[in-house]
Amino acid sequence: MSVVCKALVLAGGKGARLRPLTYAMAKQLAPVANKPILYYAMESLWEAGIRDFGVIISPETGAAIQEALARWQRHKQQSYPGETPCRITFIPQAEPAGLAHAVAIARPYLGDDAFIMYLGDNLINGDLRGLMDAFEAARDQAASILLTPVENPCAFGVATLDEDGGVRQLIEKPQNPPSNLALVGVYLFRPAIFDAIAKIAPSARGELEITDAIQRLIDDGCGVLSRIHQGWWLDTGKKDDLLAANRRILAEMPPDSASIREACCDQTQIEGAVRMGARSRLTRCRIVGPVVIGDDCELQDATLGPDVSVGDGVRLVDCRLRNSVILERCEIVRVAPVIADSLMGQACRIGPLNVGAGSTGALRLLLADDSILEGVASDGL
Ligand code: TTP
Repeated sequence: MSVVCKALVLAGGKGARLRPLTYAMAKQLAPVANKPILYYAMESLWEAGIRDFGVIISPETGAAIQEALARWQRHKQQSYPGETPCRITFIPQAEPAGLAHAVAIARPYLGDDAFIMYLGDNLINGDLRGLMDAFEAARDQAASILLTPVENPCAFGVATLDEDGGVRQLIEKPQNPPSNLALVGVYLFRPAIFDAIAKIAPSARGELEITDAIQRLIDDGCGVLSRIHQGWWLDTGKKDDLLAANRRILAEMPPDSASIREACCDQTQIEGAVRMGARSRLTRCRIVGPVVIGDDCELQDATLGPDVSVGDGVRLVDCRLRNSVILERCEIVRVAPVIADSLMGQACRIGPLNVGAGSTGALRLLLADDSILEGVASDGL
């Protein structure tokens, strides 16, 4: 069958580059503008017409991913009652043995169908339908990859193309990049990929690499298509990438004046695009959008923004935040330095912290769930 009906979404992996946050949570569930990254992948596949999903999960975070996707599925069903319901098949991967390994173990689910593979920690704007249509039409091609020009190709899988856009060579993190075209985390495959994976060996980092499997396809004479992605693409594997994704999504967020009217704001100044959750109360605050604030938050004498996402049930008192993502139930109370470029897991407690008061510096934090950071007066040491 040539039509692409199934998606393989990769939501396992180690998430080592986002530690310590990922000791306690799946990186694909880290929120961007208060929505798990994984939901963006599911949404764009859903919008391209996919209703049948296989999701790779790890032993450590699989249960949380299943729970989050059950919520996503319920929400979709309630919002689109007339639509074909989504089917989600979870595929446990015992070890993060590589993207190609994830494809190989999904064979019983994928069968002989063409499929789209999507990395669950990637954010890609734009429509996938064009990519899928071109692949469906090119029946003799074994795979199709999405490429985008980047400034630092050494950090990515890089492709060289022939005149027709066919892929000639793929190199993982090249020292002397032959082009600036990096692989974006979306791929299309026909079943020939399984034979190619069976022929490759683990790389120096011990993983079965999808770039090696695609190169194998090319070397075996199978056609591999490419398409240059026109929009933006972000891999949220590291803190600063996740903050960049947060800024991107917030920048596109329309202001929600109804939510501001409904929130309980007292002596509070609000500028730019701001979105406020239910039952949140703000007193003597200054909010400079884009900013999103979750449900049941309490903010007092706080300055927020731009580019801040605050999860549900957060308490912010006498503090300043910019370019940061703060997860549910954090408490930041009486912190003198600005908190900037920070990512905080659930229920962190920051403050009181007077150190650095009056300086132009900032605190830059990457904290896992339940972290505590407080200053102690010198007589209390
Ligand atoms: P990566 O970011 O390449 O790998 P990782 O999650 O192990 O992260 P790190 O390098 O920081 O340790 O993975 C891209 C996506 O694919 C991500 O959503 C995790 C997923 N994945 C799997 O599902 N199985 C795997 O074996 C690997 C390597 C990744």
